[in-house]
Amino acid sequence: MILKQRLPKKKSNDFHDSSVLLKSKASAPAKVILFGEHFVVYGVKAILCAIDKRVTVTAETIQERKILIKSDIGNLELESGGKISEINSPLEPFYYLADKILKNQNIGIQINVESDIPLGVGLGSSSACCVAGAAAISRLFKETSKEEILELAIEAEKTIFENTSGADCTVCTYGGIMEYDGINGFKKIESEPNFHLVIANSNIEHSTKSVVEGVKQFKERDENNFSSLCEKESKLIKEALKFLKENNISELGNKASENQEYLETIGISNDQLRKMIQIGNNRSFGSKITGAGGGGCIFAITEESNVTEAMNNFKNENYDCFSVKIDFKGLDTF
Ligand code: PMV
Repeated sequence: MILKQRLPKKKSNDFHDSSVLLKSKASAPAKVILFGEHFVVYGVKAILCAIDKRVTVTAETIQERKILIKSDIGNLELESGGKISEINSPLEPFYYLADKILKNQNIGIQINVESDIPLGVGLGSSSACCVAGAAAISRLFKETSKEEILELAIEAEKTIFENTSGADCTVCTYGGIMEYDGINGFKKIESEPNFHLVIANSNIEHSTKSVVEGVKQFKERDENNFSSLCEKESKLIKEALKFLKENNISELGNKASENQEYLETIGISNDQLRKMIQIGNNRSFGSKITGAGGGGCIFAITEESNVTEAMNNFKNENYDCFSVKIDFKGLDTF
């Protein structure tokens, strides 16, 4: 439902009576890439799941012809119709969305962002912002489908990372667990495996763009080696899908550790992350980096019985950690 402070009589999407103020709200979950990050950029299937941490975006029209964005990481205030390439801010996707939706109308948009997703550490904070932002902003003027919102969100995400595979925005929109590849898109995995993920944060922010660039260079140095790694990853994904359907958590853990070896090979790990993986492996079924790597988070796969033990293991070493469940809801609009 779209919240309207005074109900307008709208004739078309291009027309807006600026004396009528509109308000709309949406929230989207964070995500974890369970298997297949980086290889997904080269066409290999990945497996992702949405997790129960969220960003909520509220958008409202304002009479001033401006785009105002307020968030925990700062504010941005700009005229609409500006050059995207000249904005150097993590809030750029919101500006892109608001400017696109306003289409030179004689009003402005104010956006408020509230998030409990740690930033820049591979948990899909920017994708969740793009999805919730696309929903809240586009729904100010008309009902939009999830498909349209996803398309807008991916466009917005491209202002930060042009070569995004689109996987992150897809899982933040639809929620649950899914397989994803660039050609066939996503397919939801309908089984509901009951693993718990313990996520440990290195608190090292990473730039997806530069880590992905590093992997591209690795590939270009030895195409044969990279293509054989892609084959191994594809095989691993098939096995992981089978174990997910069977709810075989211990084998899923083994697959996570195997996937971690491939991530080590392509050079996205470091000493800090390796130390965290070791701690994770101690009391879980297996662990790996999630997302671009170079920093960010790792997860350890556990079940109910060993989740606390696995968490304590990280806490004893002073690591920032928390446990998450799968979010089956995805994008929510109010
Ligand atoms: O760390 P994140 O959330 O930016 O994840 C990036 C995932 C990659 O596979 C490395 C890139 C992509 O577009 O899929």
